Amino acid sequence: MNIIVVGQGAMGLLWYHHLAISTAATNLSLLASTQHNLDDDNYYFSDHQGLAYQGKLNYAYDEEIKNADVIFLCVKSFKINTALKKIAPQLKANTHIILAHNGMGTLAELPKEFINQHNIYALLTTHGCLREASLNITHTGIGITDIGLVSGRVDITEQQALTCLLNKALPCVKLHNNIIEKQWLKLAINCVINPITALHDINNGQVNNHVFTLQIEAILSELVLVAKSEGIHLNTDILIKKIRQVATATAKNCSSMRCDVLAHKQTEINYINGYVHKLGLKHSIATPENTQLWQTVLRLASFDSSASSELRTNGMEG
Ligand code: PAF
Repeated sequence: MNIIVVGQGAMGLLWYHHLAISTAATNLSLLASTQHNLDDDNYYFSDHQGLAYQGKLNYAYDEEIKNADVIFLCVKSFKINTALKKIAPQLKANTHIILAHNGMGTLAELPKEFINQHNIYALLTTHGCLREASLNITHTGIGITDIGLVSGRVDITEQQALTCLLNKALPCVKLHNNIIEKQWLKLAINCVINPITALHDINNGQVNNHVFTLQIEAILSELVLVAKSEGIHLNTDILIKKIRQVATATAKNCSSMRCDVLAHKQTEINYINGYVHKLGLKHSIATPENTQLWQTVLRLASFDSSASSELRTNGMEG
């Protein structure tokens, strides 16, 4: 299989590295937004036990894009549409497109003809990974990966072959018939942990502090109502338990949204609490808690550092 990993961030390099050293026969390349001005084709990887590797990057150009069987998108949700638009005219029909990002709602933003021509998968992972510097990452925690088709008609054997290839590279990868339920669970986790940690500038574990209990219940009861209108049945108590487990398991981690806010980068809030707000409007369901979090994080990310800390303090009190 000809595979292109798109994105030179922590997740992109994590998968690139494992696919590169995997015994599964693949032609692998990396499509990096910065590759036109990167003279360096070395990358640096530290595994979860501290073992360091140095590897070579094989960048993707027109030839690789034309021959790609799999496009593995490891970019943020708000970059999916633009990243695919750039390469779509060159792709052959029936390419496997893997979307590996936080949040939901990106599929609906893709052009209809693109959706009709390709097989689109959602991939969710709990691996912890940190970008130390450009092309330098650390695998901070071993996790698991779930994958499932969200659009397209692919033979189950082909889906299994793709899953098997990914599983050989970075186990454990499981194929699901109904990945949408897993996407909603991940969305619930992100709707709680990401904005709370970003607004209060705290590690994931502190989300379990009782001061956030009422707010977490409000976020989730709105999400459960919205999900029901989309035909997805979730249970608030079960979600709370799962989120507490994730917060405990990743207690010392800085959530992706908090990292983005601290680095003055765009966050994925539009596809997380913003997605719940959007579906609330569609189904005429009030989502005041998610709407407020969506707006506050949007404002936080667009301010300079002094105003940000003021907003965070207000967020604490509110
Ligand atoms: O976005 C993140 O940081 C992660 O998805 C999660 C699960 C919140 C853990 O940090």
